[in-house]
Amino acid sequence: MPNPVLLLLLPVLLHAVAAVSSEDSAEDPCAGRRIHIRALPPRFNTHLLRHCDAAFPLADPSASAPPSCASLANHGLGPRTHPRSRSWYRTDARLLEPFFHRRILERRCLAADPALADAVFVPYYASLDALPYLLDPALLDSSASHGASLAEFLAHDRPQILSRRHGHDHFLVLAGSAWDHSQPPELEKGQQPRMWGSTSLIRRPEFENFTVLALESRTWPWQEHAIPHPTSFHPSSLRRLQAWLDRARRSRRPVLMLFAGGVSRPSRPNIRGSILAECANRTDACVVVDCSAGKCAHDPVRYTRPMLRSRFCLEPPGDTPTRRSTFDAILAGCVPVFFEDAAARRQYGWHLPPARYDEFSVYIQKETVVLGGVRIAETLAAVPEAEVRRMRERALEMAPRVMYRRHGSTAELRRAGMDAVDLAVEGTLRRIRGRTRALEDGQPERIYALEDDSIEP
Ligand SMILES: *[C@@H]1O[C@H](CO)[C@@H](O)[C@H](O)[C@H]1NC(C)=O
Ligand SMILES: *[C@@H]1O[C@H](CO)[C@@H](O)[C@H](O)[C@H]1NC(C)=O
Repeated sequence: MPNPVLLLLLPVLLHAVAAVSSEDSAEDPCAGRRIHIRALPPRFNTHLLRHCDAAFPLADPSASAPPSCASLANHGLGPRTHPRSRSWYRTDARLLEPFFHRRILERRCLAADPALADAVFVPYYASLDALPYLLDPALLDSSASHGASLAEFLAHDRPQILSRRHGHDHFLVLAGSAWDHSQPPELEKGQQPRMWGSTSLIRRPEFENFTVLALESRTWPWQEHAIPHPTSFHPSSLRRLQAWLDRARRSRRPVLMLFAGGVSRPSRPNIRGSILAECANRTDACVVVDCSAGKCAHDPVRYTRPMLRSRFCLEPPGDTPTRRSTFDAILAGCVPVFFEDAAARRQYGWHLPPARYDEFSVYIQKETVVLGGVRIAETLAAVPEAEVRRMRERALEMAPRVMYRRHGSTAELRRAGMDAVDLAVEGTLRRIRGRTRALEDGQPERIYALEDDSIEP
């Protein structure tokens, strides 16, 4: 059977190649921004989508999950939430890899010749390729080999593409947490068995110079950079984006604060436990949306409606759905409340400028709540209404930067501003330019001193 995904991609591929030849004007808009898409055998990308109906179902085994292969619809955005819905999809974050690939294909400034490229995109579906290691207990101890086959391929197929800049100009997307894919490759004798659900992909020496775009970065990210979790909102036109932002702006918000996440009380005191305890006491001020067992993953209506009615959204650190909920909250104009500095401020600098966090979010140090008896509801209720409105307006200004607009969207929407993919690519190009310059100047040590690349020029 011909691969349906490949068939869908084909017209885009042809279109992209045609676009390159017609684009050499006097003032080169692509200078420093040319991307070569590495040609990979389908076993590294499109064939991995077959996992959807085979031994490794993509969908969570919960009632609300769509049948696994349905997640592949719309190049990975998933099926629409409703037949009449235009901008909302049941998006599975793990399919960000094919979606990102699709978006890169429709970009201008692609270079068919790697020698002319400023950066090389490796369309490897990394987290999909990790599924066998995660889901088959027999492969747990083999998970250090995740990526070995790709490393082998890149080293031998047209090896000069990789060796030219020692891999410093290569980048790929990993639709998962960098923590989960940076386990030590060697297990010491007598050591605990490998952590379930983890691989060593980022620790492979062959990829040490690649830029990995992950949904969550480690504390001292050197190789990776965090990009927003995909939400369910993927508008295709400026009119649809603005209609949504207007709705969020006008929405009546009788509820003070909302928590969407796991609802089981943790055994040890922590911030999530404190939030749940306070919300149980203050049903007048707090709404809890039960997102345990993947209930929210494919059902955006479940939490979006309540978010539109709430002034603040509580974002404790923790499981992935909670982190994703930060982006859902921003889209809904629900001012995010962070309890840990590292939660987002240090992660998503390309998309949410660290210096502007105080304008669109609230920070309450978790220790003051868990140990110091600070009440979250009292703290938030004390914020003057005009200040809340200002923060909400700033959050909605950030919304277009963290959303993933639909592929094939209107030129008007593309011109209106950069979305999550555009900003990720710009940030990557900036980082690669810095490294390339350091290499060209014969000062590779400067690469390791290149600091905060979240500053926009
Ligand atoms: C990574 O970059 C450094 C500095 O340019 C280089 O010495 C090293 O060989 C590179 N590593 C790989 C695996 O290419
Ligand atoms: C809940 O209410 C009780 C009774 O008013 C109070 O003693 C307790 O401290 C409250 N707990 C939280 C977490 O607000």
